Amino acid sequence: MTEEQVLRTLEDGVLTLLFNRPDKKNAITDAMYGTLADGLAEADADPAVRVVLFRGEGGAFTAGNDISSFAAQNAAGAASKPEGERNVMRFIRALARARKPLVAAVTGPAIGVGLTMLLHCDLVFVATDARLSAPFVNLALVPEAASSLLLGARIGHVRAFSMFALGQVLTGAEAQAWGLANEALPAAEVGPAARKAAEALASRPLQSLIATKGLMRNKEMLLAQIDHEQVQFIERLASAEAREAFAAFAERRAQISGSSPSNK
Ligand code: COA
Repeated sequence: MTEEQVLRTLEDGVLTLLFNRPDKKNAITDAMYGTLADGLAEADADPAVRVVLFRGEGGAFTAGNDISSFAAQNAAGAASKPEGERNVMRFIRALARARKPLVAAVTGPAIGVGLTMLLHCDLVFVATDARLSAPFVNLALVPEAASSLLLGARIGHVRAFSMFALGQVLTGAEAQAWGLANEALPAAEVGPAARKAAEALASRPLQSLIATKGLMRNKEMLLAQIDHEQVQFIERLASAEAREAFAAFAERRAQISGSSPSNK
């Protein structure tokens, strides 16, 4: 149905997962999460896949979870469908479990899960003018995808808290300086640089890559943190505060991810 909103292509050992919903800044729906989760499962199982590359069509990486889906879940109430059954959770857990290297090419907005998924990627290339944010508190939510652990570990607690709680937006150049990306480049160079790096990884001994990545990540700890976050995420998602935040977005009353480092 929405298969075309996430395009999968396998070439030279690199499975590309392309967010392809440019009219909505590649905001991710539950069906899209399903395709992404299936793509990661395919990558894990298929010996022809050595590396996964994430990209976004139309100048955006992704504006994160589709906020109208959040609003629908809020309206349905927390008890409507256990979050564990949702494709979003299949995707997030697959990111944490991924054995093969994940590479990201980020241009434009990378918001919410668009940022937190980068914490599970092994090489990240950003456009200098990309805009990265994780404005969970502005949406009356809490961080997900183990980002409550990973972001502070990567950039330090006070910076991570400012991103989560104040919605601080980083440019790609700042993200690179803070250790969230390998390189910040002009937007047109990001895709080719990420592709080149993915192909370089694909040429390396696969079992050595898998073992190296495995040694560098504590999957059990990440999965436990994801479960821990999920309990509070579901509670917040069903709250009156969240209902108001989603309505504000729908009515264009709030710029959720508008604060920059200089005006926070
Ligand atoms: N969920 C659903 N729709 C979204 C979306 C999201 N996360 N992000 C953008 N869109 C939609 C907009 O509603 C708009 O749809 P419309 O044309 O039907 O009105 C379209 O994508 C274009 O977005 P717009 O806001 O007009 O573009 P912009 O360039 O002014 O701003 C963003 C782009 C990404 C900065 C802004 O849309 C934004 O802040 N989105 C919310 C991001 C967010 O908080 N995500 C969730 C994090 S948990």
